[in-house]
Amino acid sequence: MAEARREYWATRIGLILAMAGNAIGLGNFLRFPGKVAAYGGGAFLIPYFITLFLLGIPLFWLEWAIGRYGGEHGAHWLAPMFYLIAKKRFGVRGAKIAAAIGGGLTLAVGIMLTAYYTNIIGWIAYWAGWCISGKITSITEVSQAKTAFIQVLANPVYNLIPWIVTLVLIAIIVTGGIARGIERAAKIMMPLLFLFAVALMIIGFTWRTPVRPEWDSLKGFFWMWTPNMAKLADPATWLEGTGQIFFTLSLGIAGIIPTYASYIRKEEDIALTALTTATLNEICEVILGGSIAFTLAYAFGGPDAIALVAIQGKSPFALTMVAYPAFFGRIGLAGAALGAMWYLLLWFAGVTSAMALVNTVAALLEDFGIRRTYGSFISILLLLAAGIPITIEGMLTGGETVYLDFTDFIVGSLLLVVTCLIEAILGGWFVWGPEALEEVNRGGYIRIPEWVWKYVISIIDPIFLIAMLVWLPMSTKIANFLTRHPLAPTFVGISVTLTILLFIIGAIMGYKCAEKYER
Ligand code: TRP
Repeated sequence: MAEARREYWATRIGLILAMAGNAIGLGNFLRFPGKVAAYGGGAFLIPYFITLFLLGIPLFWLEWAIGRYGGEHGAHWLAPMFYLIAKKRFGVRGAKIAAAIGGGLTLAVGIMLTAYYTNIIGWIAYWAGWCISGKITSITEVSQAKTAFIQVLANPVYNLIPWIVTLVLIAIIVTGGIARGIERAAKIMMPLLFLFAVALMIIGFTWRTPVRPEWDSLKGFFWMWTPNMAKLADPATWLEGTGQIFFTLSLGIAGIIPTYASYIRKEEDIALTALTTATLNEICEVILGGSIAFTLAYAFGGPDAIALVAIQGKSPFALTMVAYPAFFGRIGLAGAALGAMWYLLLWFAGVTSAMALVNTVAALLEDFGIRRTYGSFISILLLLAAGIPITIEGMLTGGETVYLDFTDFIVGSLLLVVTCLIEAILGGWFVWGPEALEEVNRGGYIRIPEWVWKYVISIIDPIFLIAMLVWLPMSTKIANFLTRHPLAPTFVGISVTLTILLFIIGAIMGYKCAEKYER
């Protein structure tokens, strides 16, 4: 195998920053506060933390173990990794089927999810431009911001240019390789991200009444932490709490964590490094992401803005795309500076996550003899193709986003769970067995106890995941997507067709690629 060209992370701090960059994304700063607001404030944190410990961290360890194990055998994406593990028990035939499923999920989830994700990053770049140029001061009313944003959605020029520029930058970074491209970019972007986030949090807590004396930012903070226990009776709260853990840790997202982990040396610690990364992600989400969203929204928009945060839980841009521009614009240049920090922070968060996926597609194509440089750009073309329906729908309907929301449901909620279920089965006690535990603990600074593998990953997690798979489609009203506008069924159809198509192509590639590993 192409062992000669093997790449590794150059430094532990680089590995942690790149992995944290992968996990810390729009999910931490936009999706999390939205879900908290929509599902009972502090009460939402109960299912959230239960699943963090029961599923999130154990499955995170599992993905790191699968990845490093794959890397040791020259496998850098999910399909060959599934193959190598499944072969231990199911023979070559069964293992090839596992590889096909892994390949299908990688391409379908990876491309469909990242297509809309990077589109949102493009909108963020658009507003960042308004703040940096100071033009944002011309927007003082939410209605103006809304008009401007709908124009972004409906006008292909505004929609496409920031998106394409972002994608090309990502491709250039990934072209540089693991240590020289990704690690270096993470070492620049992540510290800036933390700096801006901490600065915004301090501003949120100390600049308490910038607009009206009764709009005290601390009220927003207390609103977030006040539990509305009645919400716990709603199954959706539990489903969303779990879903957020998957999304934020990038669990089940196209094997991007296993791929990053495949560049870790065989004897290097993963047990503690993974735990550190997960902890950083949680600090960024619950403390920084939550505090910034609720303090700033309340200080600048009062109770009404909290309602916008909640809408964000269903559709991730209400607050950031249509309210903040007006809040920032209203207070002049100070607002432009605040806004620049906010949108750049989001842009860094998004880019360091999307990078991981482009890298995965490049790794996949490398298995077929395609050079990383070409692979990165092919990946960008696929993302453009899968994302262009967003632009077309926006143009035809004046800013509707059925394609985006529906795709988010299918790949961003449902298929993540499917991927994790397969990982838990293959990586659990019954297939991979004690060897998995040996793998995750090799070189470890801490020791993961056997019961985590034997009972949590192998029994509790699969049961939980199956329950989610039954529950998710039942609790989501597909009809709501179909009736939003006359063309909605067409866009739902396009989303389903593209997802299936990518799954089939990925499955064939996974199956083919397994042949290489058949020693
Ligand atoms: N964990 C990320 C977040 O919280 C999501 C994510 C990570 C992602 N990598 C990705 C989304 C790649 C799309 C593509 O936002």
